[in-house]
Amino acid sequence: MSDSGDNFQAETKYHRDRMSEGKRKWSSPPPLYKEYPDSEKVKLPPAIPPSDMSLYESIKKRKSIRSFKDEPLSREYFSYLLWASTGICRFQGSYPYRTVPSAGALYPIETYVVVNNVGGIAEGVYHYSVKSHELETLKTGDFGASAARAALDQEMCAEAAVVFIWTAMFERSRHKYGQRAYRYIYLDAGHIGENLALAASSLGLGCCHIGAIYDDEANNIVNVDGTEESVIYMAVVGLAD
Ligand SMILES: Cc1cc2nc3c(=O)[nH]c(=O)nc-3n(C[C@H](O)[C@H](O)[C@H](O)COP(=O)(O)O)c2cc1C
Repeated sequence: MSDSGDNFQAETKYHRDRMSEGKRKWSSPPPLYKEYPDSEKVKLPPAIPPSDMSLYESIKKRKSIRSFKDEPLSREYFSYLLWASTGICRFQGSYPYRTVPSAGALYPIETYVVVNNVGGIAEGVYHYSVKSHELETLKTGDFGASAARAALDQEMCAEAAVVFIWTAMFERSRHKYGQRAYRYIYLDAGHIGENLALAASSLGLGCCHIGAIYDDEANNIVNVDGTEESVIYMAVVGLAD
């Protein structure tokens, strides 16, 4: 591997006296949402908090869990996890803001899920429609083993009830911030991951984040090209063993 990480850090610094160099012309922004209009939709129940555990306790109890019971996650819990990690929580005018902060409120991260064991939802790969809080079916079937292989053979992806797969649509942020966008995109993904972990903790569920990914294998699972859109982060959630 080259020292591209060091170069990236150096080349994307902001300098007080050179800010105009980095100024970008605001082109028309890419759409805020990815949509699969022809996909079969799976309705989700409203994201009502199914737990009254305090934030203090949720934070205190959070830890990475890598072993899961072979029991289904309820649709209610699943719905809540999706909303808590990246759903819409308010509008300012007509602009939608989400449960997580995002640089420039551009929300470059898309959420996909490999469903292994969720009550009433067929095994398969789905895209989460943030706008309508429903799932868009990409393909049905057992993709748990493929997810495990793509995560450097981490079996927890096949055992967990659901695998979250987060992609970045780089241009959504890059059109405003140029190469510095990459800093923000990874920070955004971190916020989503932690919201998911705390929501899971508050429901007594197990969760573990995954950064060890064979990128192209993960990209194939969610049918993205790895250039315009690429998998950058994953997580598993299930009933703790
Ligand atoms: C960016 C990131 C990537 C991670 N990747 C993996 C992973 O691939 N496999 C794994 O088992 N745990 C992974 N973890 C979980 C860490 O190992 C775990 O958070 C750390 O050991 C601290 O333990 P705790 O989460 O129980 O507090 C990852 C965590 C983060 C934040």
